[in-house]
Amino acid sequence: MKILVTGGLGFIGSHTVVELQEKGFEVVIIDDCSNSDEQVLNGITAITGKRPEFEKIDLKEKDKVEDFFKRHQDVAGVIHFAASKAVGESVEKPLLYYENNIGTLVYILKELCKKNKASFIFSSSCTVYGQADKMPITEDAPVKVAESPYGNTKQMGEEIIADTCKVTPGLNAIALRYFNPMGAHPSAEIGELPKGVPQNLVPFITQTGIGLRDQLAVFGDDYPTEDGTCIRDYIYVVDLAKAHVVALERLLDGKNADNYEVFNVGTGTGSSVLEAIQSFERVSGKKLNYKVVDRRPGDITTAYADTTKANEILGWKSEYTLDEAMKSAWVWEQKIRD
Ligand code: WQD
Repeated sequence: MKILVTGGLGFIGSHTVVELQEKGFEVVIIDDCSNSDEQVLNGITAITGKRPEFEKIDLKEKDKVEDFFKRHQDVAGVIHFAASKAVGESVEKPLLYYENNIGTLVYILKELCKKNKASFIFSSSCTVYGQADKMPITEDAPVKVAESPYGNTKQMGEEIIADTCKVTPGLNAIALRYFNPMGAHPSAEIGELPKGVPQNLVPFITQTGIGLRDQLAVFGDDYPTEDGTCIRDYIYVVDLAKAHVVALERLLDGKNADNYEVFNVGTGTGSSVLEAIQSFERVSGKKLNYKVVDRRPGDITTAYADTTKANEILGWKSEYTLDEAMKSAWVWEQKIRD
């Protein structure tokens, strides 16, 4: 069974390719390498012993997408990670985000609609909830007005898929709303490779721990939470990758209740920024140099998942603790800085 993974050289994509191969799927990756490195193929191969097929294609080029599907008629399913994902950048360059995240989605869906049957997994995000009113967040929490064009592309993406599935009986899709992915594969062969100064918390913590950054800025400790810092649901990337395989198999095996479903993918536990720092200090044995500064505009106070639907209907549950995930991030940081 051949599965296309777009953005398969990226952080979550590469970990999902590993899990797919280990479940016996044949994988072909499309990536434009704009925010990833072809070297990641070596890491995947080192773990699984199987080098995935890879084609460097810019999915914004419609004729290239059509040509790919003509040459790979045996693709049974697509896991679609390829997208731009920097919240701040999306505010400065909205059209880059709408073209790259929406245009490419439409081209992929058009190809899948030509097939009698196709399974499609969409990389969505808890960002669609904005600051939800109730914790933990369930899938039927209202989708709020997006705080950024990036978040808007995830909301629009879900709507485009839902509308298409309504009129395309052969198309079965699942949107996975990720909470905060973190960590690296236990083999330390693949992991997060942020380009430039990391936007996300965990890579900034590990880069500070290894001395690449002088100090972590904690964006505010005056939030209405126990320790004053924001709370998030930090999910280990391998747990998240496994969720994609479970979701894909649900569709391939025809177990889905509707031809468009949505699942939160998180641990169900919230951790504050200070708790994440304490986790790093426990697993590394190092004191982290940080300083509390002003809030970062656009940050929400709290977000963590209600995972009942994923646990009971999808049949997936996160298995790793925050410390285990943080340890993997630290081991990876040390390895890539060797
Ligand atoms: C987490 C917490 C920061 C950096 C974003 C996207 C989301 C998803 C994950 C793509 C916040 C604090 C951070 C730092 C800090 N991306 N922080 N100092 O903002 O929850 O989610 O990334 O899908 O869509 O919105 O993640 O890691 O940036 O921040 O204090 O140097 O860490 O204020 O409270 P976020 P994050």
